[in-house]
Amino acid sequence: MNIIHSVQEMQARADEMRRLGKTTAFVPTMGYLHAGHVSLLRIGKQKGDDLVLSIFVNPAQFGPNEDLSSYPRSLERDLELAEKEGVDAVFVPTDKALYQDGYQTYVELEKLPHHLCGLSRPVFFKGVTTVVTQLFHIVKPHVAIFGEKDFQQLAVIRQMVADLKFDIEIVGGPIIREADGLAMSSRNAYLKDHMRPAALSLSKALENSRQMVQSGISDAREIVEKATEILAAFPAITIDYISICDPVTLDDVALIEGRTLMAIAVALEKIRLIDNTILQP
Ligand code: PAF
Repeated sequence: MNIIHSVQEMQARADEMRRLGKTTAFVPTMGYLHAGHVSLLRIGKQKGDDLVLSIFVNPAQFGPNEDLSSYPRSLERDLELAEKEGVDAVFVPTDKALYQDGYQTYVELEKLPHHLCGLSRPVFFKGVTTVVTQLFHIVKPHVAIFGEKDFQQLAVIRQMVADLKFDIEIVGGPIIREADGLAMSSRNAYLKDHMRPAALSLSKALENSRQMVQSGISDAREIVEKATEILAAFPAITIDYISICDPVTLDDVALIEGRTLMAIAVALEKIRLIDNTILQP
């Protein structure tokens, strides 16, 4: 497994792989890998004959009051896991390699970021699209895989790739959950045992909403009210949003008539947790 820190070296490797006729699958991450990332790597393994992982905690996607400095990191463990999963190359750039002195170019979408997570994290998607654009130019993949847990991020990337004509297939990987239903996330590392029941209320609220839709309820407001009740039973939770919306435009829907996204974001004692599901009558 190649571990590459330099942009030029990564680009030269990408050119060589293309010359050899290989299909490169790419999984961009911020490290602290868990079973969710592993599932994305396994999809990548199926999709390509060259698998590249990047590990970079992207400062541009963190706001001034967010957890950039405390974001969990475990490079050594991540590299072991990557090796075990058959990753061919890991790109681990420094901050300066991607945001050199004088850096001034950002990629920003006009509409999708003004929904859901973008409302409380105003710089997040601009940071994500900017770094993913850079990574695409450095890794030069044919296929890139992103988790559906960050549903809005996946929607934003798909839109950017279509708008900017990136010749890259974008693949979504299903949410991977712990046995008790908690969606896998690097931020779960912050959770203390006593917070677990509250953390589980997100997946419980989503499950309950799916059941409501199955039983014939289609009024989004009624479903949001019930979900709010489930989350509000835990005083440590502050709800950021509970949204029922179109999975492509992310615009609110009032009546669930077809494939609809339900997404939740909360702060649990300052730990940001998100989860989502598809509601289908
Ligand atoms: O989902 C993530 O881990 C990050 O947002 C990404 C896509 C690697 C960009 O920094």
